[in-house]
Amino acid sequence: MDAPAELIAILRKVERAAVLTGAGVSQESGLRTFRDSQEGLWAKYEPTDLATPEAFARDPKLVWDWYAWRSEAIKGARPNRGHYALAEMEAAIPNFSLITQNVDGLHRFAGSRNVLELHGNIQRVRCSVCGEFAENWDEEAEVTPACSKCGGLLRPHVVWFGEPLPEAILTAALVAVKECQVFFSIGTSGVVQPAASLARAAQTHGAIVVEINAESTPLTLQADYFFQGKSGEVLPDLVKEVWGKA
Ligand code: APR
Repeated sequence: MDAPAELIAILRKVERAAVLTGAGVSQESGLRTFRDSQEGLWAKYEPTDLATPEAFARDPKLVWDWYAWRSEAIKGARPNRGHYALAEMEAAIPNFSLITQNVDGLHRFAGSRNVLELHGNIQRVRCSVCGEFAENWDEEAEVTPACSKCGGLLRPHVVWFGEPLPEAILTAALVAVKECQVFFSIGTSGVVQPAASLARAAQTHGAIVVEINAESTPLTLQADYFFQGKSGEVLPDLVKEVWGKA
């Protein structure tokens, strides 16, 4: 991949960068993207029908079992070259924030440190009543495991549709977006707010926007640079061209 010379020059000098990732960066780790069709037992369900507080209130066991199934798939997943390239990018850029919509934890697994998990983390579980985090729980529970503190139903520590994003994390993401000189949007369809507005906000504050995605998105026409392709291929090539590593 030959990145334009002016982008390479900008990236070699950049002091502050922010990255937004979506499910596309984990696709080459074997994880379905959010809008991929579901498989097996879950094929008849739309994720948007399961990842909601209403679905959990209506049938907590169904929602719990769906996350347990997704969590099992994630347990077997390993970071791909795109995750590792982002960790190298963080090491090369003095002020670097990785904002992710993914709940799979693979960025931290690959060595990224300043990771802002906008939508939570599927490997963490909290009480749906008192909010206490659970370290272990009874997987054989009749409905869903119960909170050891208050007896409330445990739920995955992820943001469901219609729920607010974790305030401190969103605030940190907005600061990073306002201050960055370059903003990357990688492996995201750019359809879910507020994540989908971050690139525009960065551009409004003077940042260069670089999109890396398997297909064009609503952001593509606004981006300063668009690389169509797999992030597990484009990112290592870009890091190698700019910083000589990967
Ligand atoms: N490399 C780069 N991009 C890829 C790859 C890949 N290997 N594979 C797929 N893509 C792109 C797809 O073309 C798509 O545009 O990644 C994007 C994934 O989009 P979605 O499935 O919509 O996932 P995402 O954008 O992360 O969804 C955002 O919506 O459903 C909610 O909370 C959920 O965090 C999720 C949010």
